[in-house]
Amino acid sequence: MARSVLGVAVIGAGMAGRAHAAGYRSAATVFGEGLADVRLVAVADANGDLATGAARRFGYERAETSWQSVAGADDIDVVSVVVANTLHREIVEGLLAAGKHVLCEKPYTLHPADVDEAFDAAESRGLILSEAFMWRHHPQADALRALLPEIGQLQLIRATFAFVLEATENIRLRADLEGGALADVGCYTVSGARLLAGEDPAEVVGYATLGPSGVDLRFSGLLRFPSGATGMLDVNWLTPAKRRQLTVVGEEGMFELDYLTQRLTFTRAAAGGPDLIAGYAPTFAGDVAELPVANAEPLAAELDAFLTVVRDGGRPVVDVEDGLWAVAIATSLLKAAAGGQPIDLSDFCARLTNA
Ligand SMILES: NC(=O)c1ccc[n+]([C@@H]2O[C@H](COP(=O)([O-])OP(=O)(O)OC[C@H]3O[C@@H](n4cnc5c(N)ncnc54)[C@H](O)[C@@H]3O)[C@@H](O)[C@H]2O)c1
Repeated sequence: MARSVLGVAVIGAGMAGRAHAAGYRSAATVFGEGLADVRLVAVADANGDLATGAARRFGYERAETSWQSVAGADDIDVVSVVVANTLHREIVEGLLAAGKHVLCEKPYTLHPADVDEAFDAAESRGLILSEAFMWRHHPQADALRALLPEIGQLQLIRATFAFVLEATENIRLRADLEGGALADVGCYTVSGARLLAGEDPAEVVGYATLGPSGVDLRFSGLLRFPSGATGMLDVNWLTPAKRRQLTVVGEEGMFELDYLTQRLTFTRAAAGGPDLIAGYAPTFAGDVAELPVANAEPLAAELDAFLTVVRDGGRPVVDVEDGLWAVAIATSLLKAAAGGQPIDLSDFCARLTNA
């Protein structure tokens, strides 16, 4: 049984860590009744100035310079792990061993067996472990999943995550930290395509364009699903305007979700097609209708969902299967690109079990 007021810590006070620290602060102050009560206990970063600055700015009680101090603290129940990907495993394992609930930034790892191990460790201790696939917490993503049956047999899923990465010094560009566009943001497209397909891909193929540091700056991936649907992934750090989109085409029409504008639209395949979509009565302009789904701040929604499942129990929105398949698909895509050959995933689970 969780404490009534959950003690919160954030490990990593870089770009995304500060967003988590600020996000828990909103959960503590803005949200109303029914949501978990939190106490903002600690921000930890190997860089003490960053930890101190974030703790002061976002109202945390103390700053720490090691994750071990967070693991050893009795007043901390839940921890966000927001450091470079190659550090996730050691820190998450240490926190779980110390009895903390953990929300780990994506991707947890590029090693599928590690995901299994960590989720097993959490389950055996009655702890919540979840991975921060933030797109799952857009209200439009929920609406899209609920409305999918409206478009009949799925044909095509297109997932795009693109922007310009301007920095030259960045953990994402470091091969030793398992950087690269596919690992960094491609995991969103992989997770989106798989979830919308409602099944796991049987085969993947990919093409990567590598930058000077040896990591992919551009990745194009194809997923073949057993039902016949195809997933097309477009991930890159070169597109001069940000794009974060998920499109799904079925026999009866197409949904398009834009994460940046939080717009969800439906385009019917033919005049006279559906005009009342699963309880929504959108207004069509020609054959296109915008679905009236209220916006939400996705990080706040993600932290809220995590805190609620810690307090009340149940399965996190992103569970072991999501984490496992996302990394399995991403690593297979990287392998397919490196070897210039498609990779058969139909016996992936069996291979993982024997790994
Ligand atoms: N969900 C999102 O929208 C989103 C956005 C950006 C990044 N991320 C993820 O967040 C993670 C961090 O990315 P970032 O851009 O914030 O990186 P960053 O480089 O800005 O920050 C990482 C921080 O970790 C600290 N650090 C390094 N080793 C540490 C240790 N042993 N203990 C404690 N702190 C340590 C560094 O000093 C640095 O401040 C990555 O996994 C990334 O994929 C998620």
